[in-house]
Amino acid sequence: MEVVILDDPAAAGGLVGGAIASLAAATPALVLGLATGSSPLPVYADLRRRRAEGSLSLATARAFLLDEYVGLPPGHPQSYRTYVAREFEAGLDLADDAVQGPDVQAADLPAACAAYEAAIDAAGGVDLQLLGIGADGHIGFNEPGSSLGSRTRLKTLGEQTRRDNARFFASADEVPRHVVTQGVATILQARHIVLLAFGEAKAGALAAAVEGPVTAMIPASALQLHPHVTVFVDEPAASGLRLAPYYRETWAAKPTWQSL
Ligand code: F6R
Repeated sequence: MEVVILDDPAAAGGLVGGAIASLAAATPALVLGLATGSSPLPVYADLRRRRAEGSLSLATARAFLLDEYVGLPPGHPQSYRTYVAREFEAGLDLADDAVQGPDVQAADLPAACAAYEAAIDAAGGVDLQLLGIGADGHIGFNEPGSSLGSRTRLKTLGEQTRRDNARFFASADEVPRHVVTQGVATILQARHIVLLAFGEAKAGALAAAVEGPVTAMIPASALQLHPHVTVFVDEPAASGLRLAPYYRETWAAKPTWQSL
């Protein structure tokens, strides 16, 4: 796991945006995995900037959402499909049908979850998966206690997550209780995973995920089992990391031939 401590989220956005642009240039059938929430916003802003400059095209790329609320009407401003249309697709040049999320309106949700897994496989799997981390250690919406072998399925949000996400809704009561999320094992199938964590509120979960034991109580700790994970954090989010001096030294001395 490579941990990169940066001055601010915008610096992370620039580095991850650059990595995606290089990958897109080399991989016409690029498949991205998209997170929502605040953490990936600097990456999406950087991608839009590159597109406006003419240095990025995602015309032949595809993308899959990590998760989606269950119970919101289609087109709800806080649905993750709407978020992705607003924050990611607008300003980029993806094809109309290039972005897919789980079908949370389906009458048979387990069948829709299985179909979503099959669609990711049929696309060739995810090349680069963006992730945030919850203050309780979740990735996707795999809350503490989630099986590390889990696949896409229905989950119930924990109290902490519903409180954290209340900022996007008029009140905490409006945050849906249920979501469909890629499972921990689904996420671990991506070829490169980029975890973004900013702000002091993430420090405890991040330290537990990166330096603690692998445990279902901190689903993000399963990332320790993946061979290619890059973690971008700002100083407040890095404040609980025991090996912070080592991560800084490693980044400063990173060989120029070694990409992210
Ligand atoms: C979002 C997702 C969640 C968030 C996490 C952090 O698609 O799956 O795991 O990444 O809750 O949210 P932010 O970035 O808003 O702090």
